[in-house]
Amino acid sequence: MVDSHGRVIRDLRLSITDRCNFRCVYCMDPGVRFMDRSELLDAQELVRVARVCVGLGVDTVRVTGGEPTLHPDLEEIIGGVAGLAGPDGAALDVAMTTNGSLMDERRLTAWRRAGLRRITISIDSVDPRRFASMTRSRTTSDRVLAGIEAALAAGLRPVKLNAVVVRGYNEYEVVGLAELARRFAVEMRFIEFMPLDSRHEWSMNRVVPATEIIARISAAHPLTPLGREDESSTSLVYEFADGAPGRIGVIAPVSRPFCGACSRLRVTADGKVRPCLFSNTEWDLRPLLRGGADDEQIAQFLVDATWTKQSGHGISSPRFTPPDRPMSAIGG
Ligand code: 5AD
Ligand code: SF4
Repeated sequence: MVDSHGRVIRDLRLSITDRCNFRCVYCMDPGVRFMDRSELLDAQELVRVARVCVGLGVDTVRVTGGEPTLHPDLEEIIGGVAGLAGPDGAALDVAMTTNGSLMDERRLTAWRRAGLRRITISIDSVDPRRFASMTRSRTTSDRVLAGIEAALAAGLRPVKLNAVVVRGYNEYEVVGLAELARRFAVEMRFIEFMPLDSRHEWSMNRVVPATEIIARISAAHPLTPLGREDESSTSLVYEFADGAPGRIGVIAPVSRPFCGACSRLRVTADGKVRPCLFSNTEWDLRPLLRGGADDEQIAQFLVDATWTKQSGHGISSPRFTPPDRPMSAIGG
């Protein structure tokens, strides 16, 4: 699958639910209304979408939400996706992004056995009050920390951690969060706040740029840059100069857009293809999935949608309009 700017699509972000037990300030409105269950693709439909994408060259499938661990058929979905042979018969890379609040070693082991390889866990704060004010949930950061340990114990690799940095909330905590990388020997990634919050309260003043994040961490723990992991990777990676384990990643869509190397395609839980996180046009797969279309017709639809992928997000353009859907209904 290639777009009109010559970018090749290899990475499918498959949102399996729009529901979540958190209401993060940078994502979900507390008064959010979830879609009716009948609108959401079922496990078979989700796996079918993944299968057709893999047939078109996708080699990485990231299961997202909402919060994917809320889905009653998660194990079946992981198993179905992981059972697909990747391009050239290679195993598919199956990943998941989660808020880490609903998992223990038993569930994690079941997902790993079903074929999940790696996991990304969000943790925006380790301070109980700030964690509560950012996630607007009753879950504690201790619970997420236990989830991180359980993911490591279950053998998922790599485990990565994500924090969205929002000025006025957690910019003073980046050092404390960076220390999680050292403690767990994992990559802790900091993400610039993007205009995807459902209340449209995003503004440039709320964005903590990558340079500031790195400066704050370096003042406490000097960092050595390792550069981008690969060409289409979204994060800049650093290691600790003192040789401590773990790494720091910074994802800077606002201050250092990486759209030129984008290899991603998104499908929402209700079956809408979004060529870009910031697309204002969606391509509705559901009528095809439910209307008896064959795989070839679905493939052609995906190819056509991909072709329209916009060149970039245009966040800094004066004509930028944020998407109607919040991140929770798009899938990270
Ligand atoms: N800006 C940046 N990242 C966001 N995420 C959710 N909303 C936003 C936003 N407005 C992140 C989550 C998660 C991933 C799926 O997307 O923290 O790590
Ligand atoms: Fe839920 Fe993730 Fe959105 Fe937070 S960012 S409300 S955890 S979907």
